[in-house]
Order: sequence, then C-alpha cells, then structure tokens
Amino acid sequence: MIYEFIDDKGAFRVKDPHKYNLYFPLCDKEGSLLSSISPNLAGDIKRNNNQFLTPPASIEDLKNNLLCRRDFFIKINSKKIKNVGIKSKNIIRLSYPYKDTLEAGFLYHKLIKETESLNIEVLSFIPYDIPAEVMRIKIINKSSENLEITPTSFIPLYGRGEKNLRDHRHVSSLLNRVYLNKFGITLKPTLFFDEEGHSVNKAGYFVLGFEDDKQYPLGQFPTLDSFCGQGDLIFPQAIEDDFEPVNKNNKEFDGKENIAAFRFNNKKLKPNEEVNYFLIMGIDSELDEKNVKSIPPIFSKLDSPDKIEQSFQNTKEYWEEYLSNINIDFKNNDFNNWLLWVKIQPTLRKLFGCSFLPHFDYGKGGRGWRDLWQDSLTLLLTEPKKAKNIILNNFQGVRVDGSNATIITKEGDLISDRNKISRVWMDHGVWPYLTLRLYINKTGDLNILNQDVGYFSDHLFKRAKEINCKVLQKDNFLRTKDIKIYKGTVLEHILIQNITVFFNVGQHNIIKLENADWNDGLDMAVDKGESAAFTYMYARNLKDLCFFLENLKIESPTVCIMKELLILLDQIKSNTKVDYNNYKDKQKKLDEYLENTKQLTGDKVNVKIDDLIFDLEKKSEHLFEWLRKKEWLKQGFFNGYYDNKGKRVEGLFKGKTRIMLTSQVFAIMSGTASDSQIKQTWQSIKKHLKDNKLGGFRLNSDFGTIYRDMGRAFAFSYGDKENGAFFNHMIVMLSNALYKRGFIKEGYEVINSIYTMSIDDKSQSYPIIPEYFNNSGRGLYLYLTGSASWYIYTMVEEVLGVKFILGNLLIEPKLISLNFSSNEIKISWPFEERKVTLTYILQNKKKNNVPLVIDKVFLEGEPVLLQSTGCMIKKQTIKGFKKKEIKIRVHLV
Ligand code: G1P
Repeated sequence: MIYEFIDDKGAFRVKDPHKYNLYFPLCDKEGSLLSSISPNLAGDIKRNNNQFLTPPASIEDLKNNLLCRRDFFIKINSKKIKNVGIKSKNIIRLSYPYKDTLEAGFLYHKLIKETESLNIEVLSFIPYDIPAEVMRIKIINKSSENLEITPTSFIPLYGRGEKNLRDHRHVSSLLNRVYLNKFGITLKPTLFFDEEGHSVNKAGYFVLGFEDDKQYPLGQFPTLDSFCGQGDLIFPQAIEDDFEPVNKNNKEFDGKENIAAFRFNNKKLKPNEEVNYFLIMGIDSELDEKNVKSIPPIFSKLDSPDKIEQSFQNTKEYWEEYLSNINIDFKNNDFNNWLLWVKIQPTLRKLFGCSFLPHFDYGKGGRGWRDLWQDSLTLLLTEPKKAKNIILNNFQGVRVDGSNATIITKEGDLISDRNKISRVWMDHGVWPYLTLRLYINKTGDLNILNQDVGYFSDHLFKRAKEINCKVLQKDNFLRTKDIKIYKGTVLEHILIQNITVFFNVGQHNIIKLENADWNDGLDMAVDKGESAAFTYMYARNLKDLCFFLENLKIESPTVCIMKELLILLDQIKSNTKVDYNNYKDKQKKLDEYLENTKQLTGDKVNVKIDDLIFDLEKKSEHLFEWLRKKEWLKQGFFNGYYDNKGKRVEGLFKGKTRIMLTSQVFAIMSGTASDSQIKQTWQSIKKHLKDNKLGGFRLNSDFGTIYRDMGRAFAFSYGDKENGAFFNHMIVMLSNALYKRGFIKEGYEVINSIYTMSIDDKSQSYPIIPEYFNNSGRGLYLYLTGSASWYIYTMVEEVLGVKFILGNLLIEPKLISLNFSSNEIKISWPFEERKVTLTYILQNKKKNNVPLVIDKVFLEGEPVLLQSTGCMIKKQTIKGFKKKEIKIRVHLV
C-alpha cells in the first residue's frame, strides 16, 4: 500500500505523494461544485461542462501544467534562508514538493509540508452544504529566529466551457471581464462562447481570500500577464521581483487570461508563531449584473477561521453519517477502511457522472444509462429512501422500441445521446431489471410493477435505424396518435426492453450487437455483429421476471399492457407463433412491432398473467437451449460474439486461443452454463486469463490484431482498458456469478484479487477500486467506476449473504475461513425502521477453505429455524420488535 490508514473512519496518509500521478475528488453533497486535487494542488474546479472556474485538467496536466494548479508563494525576507526554490532561493511554492505528507478523508485533502524554516498545512475541502472550495493554508515558523514573509496566492481563472480549451481559447478570453472587490475577484465573461449560437453569460466565477481574522489582501494581480511579467509561471516576476499589486478595477484587465492572485500583507512570524490564509472559490451560475462588484453572498458563511473550522468538522461528520447507513465490519481495520472508500464511489459517480476527474476527460457530465442502473445497486443500500423515485424517473428513459435515452443528468433529465450520435447499446435493456429486482426484493413493493410512467421519445425510431427530425417534441414524452402523453406500467417497460431484443437477432439467431454492449469498445460491428454475452442475460431476465409475475397474480390475474405489445407476445393463444429457430421470422416480427409503434394507438389490453408467464418461459427456454447448443466451444468455454463479417469471435484460431471474460461471466451468471461447464470454464479462465504474476484476471486474451471487424478496443495497447486490462467491473461480476452459482472458493479467489491488486504498491492508488489495472498493476481511472457498486452488492448479497426476497430477509452466507480476520464479522443496515446487526461467529477456524455452513441462528437471543438454503426472517417478525436495534447472531461451522 502506498498509504496507511490513521483511524477507523477512512482517513489515510501518504508519504511523498507527489511521486504518484494521483488525484482526489472534492464535492458538496449535491455535486453543485466538483473539484479534483492532486498532491501538487493541480486539478480543476467546475460546476458542469460549461462552467469551469479553473482550466480543465487531464491526467497529464496534473504534473505538467502549471496553469492547472492552485498555488501559494511564500517569499521569506531573510538572508539566512536559502535553498528552498529553484531560481529565487528564498521562495517557497506550495505546489512544489518539500517533505510532503498527504492526509485525506471524507471528503478533504490535507497536505503537510516541512520546509527548512516553516511547517505548512494546506487543507482543501468543499463544505458538504456549500458549493465553494475552501483552501486553508496554515504556516508555522519552526525556525529559531523571527521571519518576515511575503505571501501571495495564485488561482488560475478560466470561466468558460471545456471545449474552449481548443476552440477559440484566445478569442473567448476577449469576453472576460473582472471585478475586483476588497476580498477578491469575480470573473464574469460577457458571452458564453458557442459558434452554434452565442448566449449572454450569466455565470460569475469568484475567488476570495483573507488572512486570519478576516484581514483582506493588500492587493492583487488580476491577469496572467501582470503576474508573470517578463517571466513565466515558473518564475513569475510578480513574485521574483516583488511587483506591486493593484486593488482597483482597470479596463486593461478586460479581455485577458485572468487569475486570482492575492498579495497579502508582509507578516512577521516569531519562532512557533502561526498564520493562516483562507481562499474561497466558487461559481455563481446566475450572477446578476448589478451584483458583479459585490462580495458573493456565500462568503458570509465562510468568512472567519471559526466558521471554516466548523464547516470542515460538519463536512467530515456528514460523510461519515452518510456512509454509516450500511456498516460492514470484518474486524480488519485496513479492509474496513478500504470498503468505506469503495462504498462512496457510486455516490461520487452519481455526482460526477463519468466526467470531471482527470482520467475522465471525456463526456459532458450526467450518467450513462447502464452506469446509472448499476450504481443504484449500492445506492439502494446507502440511500434507500430515494430509491423508488429514482427508479420511476429513470424508467421514463425507455423508448417504445426497447432502446433508451443514454444519459441522465444530475437533475434527472434524460438526453438522447451526449454526442448527438444515433446509436444503441444492446445491453442497455438488461440493467434496469436487475436494479428493479433488487428494489422489489429489498422492499417487497411488488406494486411498483403496476405503476404508470411515461416513455422517452425523440427523433430516433426502430432502434436508431430511422431518424425523423420532424416529429421531435421538446419534452421528449411519447405521445399517442391523438397527441396524448402515453404512460404504461413499469412492468410494460421491462417487457418491452427484454422482448424487443429477443426478436432483434442476426444471422446466428443471437441478439444483434448493434453499436456495442457492456464493452463500449466493441463498436465496429454494427452490421453483422451479435452478442451472445448479453443474449445469456436477456434469457435469464425473461425467466426471472416470471417469479414476480407469479406473485403479482395473487393480487390480480391480469395485467394491462399496450395493445401493440401483443404482437411480440406470440405464444399467447390467438397469436401466430414465430419459429424461434428462424432468425428471419424473428426479425419480421420485430419489424411489425416497430412499424406499429411509430404511432401508438394508446389502446391497452388486459392479458392474463398466466399467459404472459407462458410466453416468457417459452422465449427464455428457447434462448437457453439455443445458447447451450450453439455457443459452448469444445475448448471448454463459451463464445460471446460474432463480428461484423458474421464470424465467431472466440475459440481457437491458428493455434491461438481467443477468449473474453464477459462471455464467460454472463454464461455463468445467467444460468446458461451447467455446473460442469462452469468447472471447465473456470479452468479456461485460469489458464488463459489469470495473470499469475499480478494475480488478477484479464478481460480478454491477446488477439494480436486490431480487429476492425469488432471495435476500437482491440486497437488499444494490450493490457489497457477494454483490451485485456484487469477490468474490475467484469472481474467483480465474475465473482458475483461464481458465488451465485455456488462456486464459493472460486468467487473468493476472484473478488480477493481486486483487493490484493488495489492495495499493492504497484497500483499506486489511494484506497479505492480503480476502473482497471494495467500491465504493471497500476490502477487507472480512479473513483468513477461501476465496479465499486458491484463490489458492495456482491459483498452484501453474496459473501455476507444478506439477501431479500419480497421484503423478507434471507440469510445465506458464502463465507470461507479466509474471510475472517478474527472469529467475527458484522454487518448492520436499516430495515423496517430499525437497525439490524447481523454477526457471524466462526466456531472453529478451519484450515481448508471449505465453505462454512450455518450451525445456529439466534434472533434477539432466540433460536430460529433453519431452511435448506439459509435462514429466512420475515419482515413481520422484525416489525414485531419494539426495539430500534435488532441483533441476529449466526454461528458458522
Ligand atoms: C466503463 C463504463 C461502463 C462500460 C465499461 C466497459 O466501466 O463506465 O459503462 O460498460 O467501461 O466499456 P466502469 O468505469 O464503470 O468500470
């Protein structure tokens, strides 16, 4: 580990952190202000893609671009002090490393620097409830003599959208206008530059600063030019040659690259004396013209050392409390603390989307469809109260052709495609059901299936095969032919998503790959590509849904659905049956449905649930049978794909094995693979995908070709991203699948590889799961990855066996002795307005790793009856207790 934990609340410490190219996220609880910060104080501060306070920073900028750094210069006016800077020996610059230690926690970043004469601490955080980044610089004279210092802060101001970095960077700077006030500066550009249609800029970008008890700066340098003079950012003349700062507005500052550089008064420090400087940085997205010269109102919340300290403490408490909703205690401080960070990752992705951290220098914010649903697997546990509304809102993203809006913003708005490309990812229909399934099981709220929600409608029809801009409606609600907003039940949405694809097959009778599946990198096989990998999962969804339908029947024997959907329910008595073995027949059927739904009648029909179950079972049986027969390879694993020439992708090719983890994961998870096939597949995975040196599992074997008939992934260097990296999202899904199918030792080996690689020095990472590890074991794409949500979900549901079935608790642990650091593991979570604490007690430590079985269960001290698969505790039983804390103890042998 490059870090060590310093408490049991997730705080950690890294020595010499600048050795690594790392960054840390800061944000408030709503994600209204998003920052990244590195050990040299680089990174950016923004509100969204169009409002960056500081210049957007990619990963390589962190170490190499001085204009992406927050900085602070301390000039020591003493002849005796030398050798602290490069040119001027008496200048200490806080973005440079000295003897540095980083301390970080939820959610703050603290750098501790020891120079020859000063001890310095730079604390950065965004208060959980205030969208402003705070920087507190504490300086203590540790020398034995009096020192006089000249302090100057430096924050680059950008005030534009991300794309202006390479689109009229200079021209857009001409729009800049700054307004100086007593405590700082506000930048409010005149226009928001966008050649497609410039608009009046409303946002104001501000930085304010003060010393100790609200002493305002002496003056400032409002432009980059006035700061650098004839020097540059390495040797700015304002510092080197003690330029005089200004404190009045001047027309000359307009139309320039601006900065917020504040000169504070010279300060005399006696030995051990301390001085603090504070910077407050933020964005006011609706700054009224008449207020540009005033001090932003947010300042009053943070304008004293006490208020800032209080806000810092409150912020730590807020995040600790937020994370305590579900508590896991393996009696192993390192692992427990690491888990806390993994637990916050889905929340960070909710707030950041897949953009706005230095590796994620793409996208425009908002979350992708599949990420949104998968992150909810953990958010259902951490934010249970919000779950239902989030789910209902998200379902409005489904189109009637089974595809969906691909982006959802933080505010819950749906967007067709962030890059205005007409495309469909074929796996998207799989994920909502998985999340809905967990929600229903967790809450018992089966009725959500009957709840009506709208559909998404835009210019794309027939799964993006037809574009019709004329029908584009502003509000994106699907309407019937008489222009009424059409709503259907959640069940209907699920059916549409899972049944349309059933018919959307290619020439191998496997569901078409369309523009890609989970693997975004398989994006060049749109004509003839097919994804068996996700056909496995659709088969499973169709079957699994029948369980809920059986239960829904208890309330009512019928459900009401869109009339046109009957076209696809061909097994219902009066309908003509499709020959499922004939791919052309399936395609024809889908086309009939897609034609008919271009203009909906709005009519609904009642369908008997029994008939619906019959239809779904027929479909899933057909798929399972077909897949088992056609996609199992004699090499002992499953094929998952056909390429754009219609050729099988996996197997043995000229003596080289081509195998992809995704195909194996979903064959196992879906139940397609038999137990003996799982055993063989596992051997193949170990042989071809396990890296014995690094200990992890790769996403695919080396195909040794750029494979233009499949996708960009194969053009990446082997061992990176979607080409054979240790891709944690798929690895954790592999462990989930193995656990689910009862392969416990194997599941452990897989899930444990993630932790082992994460904490290894080679990973060079803070405590989190990165998206992937490369060939040298380094973690890349930090924080914003779906693997975190799947990790927590797998830990809770599979490893710790805290499962829910229609609102009741099923305890079904899949633990082995290696999971135990002592003889106890604890998990607690809110359940039926109470807190339930479940403790596993290891009776005697077994030497081998045979899965442990339940010996006895005690609920509040009373023994509970065991069932064959575990121990079911009805929610009524829990509700029967008056106490607010319920204890369950499970003895394992
Ligand atoms: C990322 C994307 C995810 C995609 C995956 C593979 O994974 O966010 O949607 O399925 O790449 O292309 P993540 O960063 O979530 O681990």
